[in-house]
Amino acid sequence: MNYKKLIEMALQYRKRAYCPYSNFKVGAAALFENEAAFGGCNIENASFGATNCSERTAIFKGISEGFISLRAIAIVGSLEEYTYPCGICRQVINEFATKDTIVIIARSVDDYIVMKFDEIFPGSFSKEDLIGNSKSSV
Ligand code: THU
Repeated sequence: MNYKKLIEMALQYRKRAYCPYSNFKVGAAALFENEAAFGGCNIENASFGATNCSERTAIFKGISEGFISLRAIAIVGSLEEYTYPCGICRQVINEFATKDTIVIIARSVDDYIVMKFDEIFPGSFSKEDLIGNSKSSV
């Protein structure tokens, strides 16, 4: 699937944003192995901390359908400014990213930035950091 198709999907899912508190709509489309793509929107909650971002909605849909390797994710938030993934979403992307995972930050299908995920999440804490530390010290 090409960048534009993934952005189109993110834009479609952006329409489904449930954001009565912020009124800030965000849509995402996560592309996994075998060209499997899943869309998601932000889903807010009266208890604000229970809000789920669009990126995590899309990624969790893919994971729960049996996919594991995130190849790319397109994100459309504000149509005026580029909306980058929040810190929690970067950590979740990191869990399923490869060294080649691409992040597409779009304002429209014709206006977008393509970055390698590594560029926006340097020095990450990853599963590799846990290897050799499985014995609890408490
Ligand atoms: N939001 C996302 O969906 N993704 C991001 O990366 C940034 C923030 C949502 C969460 C909340 O519903 C609204 O945008 C305002 O923070």
